[in-house]
Amino acid sequence: MIEDFEALRQTVLSCKNCKLCETRHNVVFGVGNPQSKVMFIGEGPGENEDLQGEPFVGRGGQLLDKMLTHVDLSRNENVYIANMVKCRPPKNRDPEKDELEACIGYLRNQVHLIRPKIIVCLGRIAACAIIDPGFKVTKQHGEFYDRNGTLMMGTFHPAALLRNPGSKPAALEDFLKLREKLDSLPD
Ligand code: URA
Ligand code: SF4
Repeated sequence: MIEDFEALRQTVLSCKNCKLCETRHNVVFGVGNPQSKVMFIGEGPGENEDLQGEPFVGRGGQLLDKMLTHVDLSRNENVYIANMVKCRPPKNRDPEKDELEACIGYLRNQVHLIRPKIIVCLGRIAACAIIDPGFKVTKQHGEFYDRNGTLMMGTFHPAALLRNPGSKPAALEDFLKLREKLDSLPD
């Protein structure tokens, strides 16, 4: 484990541990306040994220920011946002097993340094990797799971909400549950 957040960031920015390094424009390490109580985990950078080097900056990202605002959270103040893989999979395909395995150590190191009270998985790929391999977003979204004292919740991926706006009210309910849970935590 690297014990300094900036040292970890510099290491990841020059990583070539999987084939995604060959096609990326930028490594997308993460964004937000590393002192946050809540951490969001997506799947991997898309086109805009790859070009800008920041997670969730496209249309899905705008929707995520809107939902965060709804519950008094924001990417530059009180959350941290990262992805399962730090480099864009070509044509936005799902990250492959070897890529997830090559990159997971960096996410674990981020979690180790941030020590979030709550981890929110955005979409199936993150929820299956982090909460339970059999996780079903449609059935289990908004439920909290205690994993060694860290609360974990899965909800809809913003891109899924853009494709299927009918799930937006359910997603907002999940964010309200997150707000309640955060407010119930001891300082
Ligand atoms: N989708 C993700 O899962 N992560 C991003 O950073 C952008 C889109
Ligand atoms: Fe390294 Fe992760 Fe990028 Fe692969 S996806 S090159 S493991 S930072």
